[in-house]
Amino acid sequence: MLVCHCNIITEMEIEQTIISLLDEDPWNLIVPAKVYHRLRKRGRCCGCFPNVVETIIRVTESYHARSQASGADVVSHLDRVRELRSQYGSRPNEGRTTSHRAA
Ligand code: FES
Repeated sequence: MLVCHCNIITEMEIEQTIISLLDEDPWNLIVPAKVYHRLRKRGRCCGCFPNVVETIIRVTESYHARSQASGADVVSHLDRVRELRSQYGSRPNEGRTTSHRAA
């Protein structure tokens, strides 16, 4: 599924990049700009960032569910990751005004 229409980035590419960043440092606070930097892309309209944040949260939760880390450390880290929603918006807010929607 295409997540970023400006840069033609798929959800799978984003998921693989997040896992790669977590493999390097499981406690890394991953933000959309870090993912795009790794992909050698940059946010243009940034309307995809709320969806990227949801993907970061989902993949990070899943990654840590499989890890051997203690529960308290994981909960604390996931709380920080979920706070990205307030910073980048949630899925219903595309970050675009309705006048710029194609449909
Ligand atoms: S849709 Fe991703 S930067 Fe515009």
